Amino acid sequence: MPVYQTELGWVLETNTTAYAFGLNQAGLLVHRYWGARLPRHEDYPPATDAKGWASFNNAAQLTQEEYPGYEDMKFVDACIQVIFADGVRGTVLRYASFDLDEGALPELRIHLRDTAYPLQVTLHYRVHADYDLIERWATVANQGETPITIERIDSAQWHFPVAESYRLTHVTGRWLDEMHLRREVLQPGRKVLESRRLTTSHHHNPWFALDRGGSCEDAGAVWFGVLAWSGNWKLSADINDFGATRINVGVNDWDFAWRLNPGDTFSTPSSFGGYTEQGFGGASRLLHDFIRDTIIPHGHALHKVLYNSWEATTFNVDEASQAELAELAAEMGIELFVMDDGWFHGRDDDTAGLGDWWPDERKFPNGLKNLIGRVNGLGMDFGLWIEPEMVNPNSELYRAHPDWVIHFPTRTRTTGRDQLILNFARTDVQEYIIGQIDRLLSENNIVFIKWDMNRNVSEPGWSDAPGDPRELWVRYVQGLYHVWGTLRERHPEVIWQSCSGGGGRADLGILRLADQVWISDNTEPSARLAIQEGYTNIFPANTMEAWVTDMGPDYLPLAFRFHVSMCGSLGVGGHLVHWGTERRAEAARWIALYKELRPVVQYGDLYRLRSPQEHAYSAVQYMSKDRTEGVLFAFRTHLPPPANTPPLYLRGLDPDASYEIEGMLGARSGLAWMRTGLYLELKDFESTVRRIRRV
Ligand code: GLA
Repeated sequence: MPVYQTELGWVLETNTTAYAFGLNQAGLLVHRYWGARLPRHEDYPPATDAKGWASFNNAAQLTQEEYPGYEDMKFVDACIQVIFADGVRGTVLRYASFDLDEGALPELRIHLRDTAYPLQVTLHYRVHADYDLIERWATVANQGETPITIERIDSAQWHFPVAESYRLTHVTGRWLDEMHLRREVLQPGRKVLESRRLTTSHHHNPWFALDRGGSCEDAGAVWFGVLAWSGNWKLSADINDFGATRINVGVNDWDFAWRLNPGDTFSTPSSFGGYTEQGFGGASRLLHDFIRDTIIPHGHALHKVLYNSWEATTFNVDEASQAELAELAAEMGIELFVMDDGWFHGRDDDTAGLGDWWPDERKFPNGLKNLIGRVNGLGMDFGLWIEPEMVNPNSELYRAHPDWVIHFPTRTRTTGRDQLILNFARTDVQEYIIGQIDRLLSENNIVFIKWDMNRNVSEPGWSDAPGDPRELWVRYVQGLYHVWGTLRERHPEVIWQSCSGGGGRADLGILRLADQVWISDNTEPSARLAIQEGYTNIFPANTMEAWVTDMGPDYLPLAFRFHVSMCGSLGVGGHLVHWGTERRAEAARWIALYKELRPVVQYGDLYRLRSPQEHAYSAVQYMSKDRTEGVLFAFRTHLPPPANTPPLYLRGLDPDASYEIEGMLGARSGLAWMRTGLYLELKDFESTVRRIRRV
């Protein structure tokens, strides 16, 4: 039974882990254990009462509460802070009751009640046993007669076993350079990662991995977690003077407030936490399986090889230029042709058009139908780029509805890339955009949409907000989910891609709507290696759209470019007319090979063998779930001589079975390949792809 109760409290068990909490003598709901699953129920430690030892450090501060309110001398982040109608700001939460849903996905609900006010907080715990994940979120209900203002509400506070030291792994970056891994030892004090940009952001991602310092890709204890949210978020890791380490995660409390009217409830997004003893690689494989199996909409559909016109034609699209590219793409074996920016009303550059989602009459006098017909006639599906949350001041939409954008009436409306953000918190905006995009999808045979979002917010005003105007941060995201979700429901066959100037919006919230992410506008392949490595620490390869383009120095061979992109969901974005016959013929060979490899790449287990962020010689391996076949990619960027490339130790093979590796002499046992490794000779900017086959 994955969830059970003993006199010590509740235990949630996954395949290999356990998470336990209970009530202590003082009646507080406290954390007991999170780690490897233990053999007996009584193995999990009891809920303890912390001992204060001075008036400066009393018990309240030292208690590992599951979801602390704002009371007593805690001096830690409360998970919830509110203001009641009488101005009182404390929240004193005590256990009231629990209930348990014993479905396929067991959910335990713990109800806490404020001791003096009609405020109920429910802590939800869902067990994803096969993925060793616990999902947590909170719901707060105003059961009184007067409004309550929420100023801070976390999804969860996660506690870790008391230890000398913890190391936090996270990703950081910027536009064109996302997802760099950082590992840092936590020091007393607080480490905060967050977004204040309205979207998840290129700069940080709501993901963490925590280890005690000795773990690596393949081994060691790692606690990890993600927040399923596509707006402002905050993650704070706090190691206190007494060695207790916790991570709070939720929507960002910065500039946030929510008016909870009588009878209303508010739910936080979900925070998922996991534990593994298989290192960082093990942690990411659990997340990959979880995301593929349960989060993304199209489950295990194989992604088509696509062509995207952006880097080739930018805004200069019309039927003739796109059809020319499409013909060449089809000859190369491409299966999906995506027309990027530039196709809609008034769009000749980035200063105009956003908001007017109908085909530009000069470029497409017959609408999109002719082009789509030609693309379909070539045996390819058709996809389209849109950026529905945005408006250019130079557009018909803005001229008709200047108040639909996020703004403060008395302040400058700061533009970014000449655009403003439509206030997706407003229902009239939501309805308008649903109508526009729905029409586009209903009138045309479009099976793929790249949904872009190319700026961050400024002047976050909402003058006629029904509640507190600071609700904007959350209501915008809820509005986005509503618009996208409605369109998905109406057009279930469409595959959606989340893009925000590349990887500005990659998270488990958006992946409930989008099957893929455009992970960076940087398509230079050696830079891409690093970005892809960071990305796959969190997200599976099938969600990682990767194009082969002309970006970067000419000395980068086409093979290298393809190998990098074949590590995810392959696409092409180079200028095919300029490529010439020979280059296109070579591309066709790589595309054909990718089609053979893609079930393993997109849905197999991913092993990062050598990090491109750390080494100029790097490798990544994919193995089918049944371990019968796999593929190895190795890359060398610049290594000064003498370059002794070290052996690559394969992973995930059946130790007793025999395997052949393409290009290597003879079959050897899985254990041999994993323990003695294989040597590859690569020159600077050379790469290789090797199939692995069980014989
Ligand atoms: C963003 C995207 C690009 C491209 C352009 C179009 O930068 O990330 O891939 O779609 O917008 O304007």
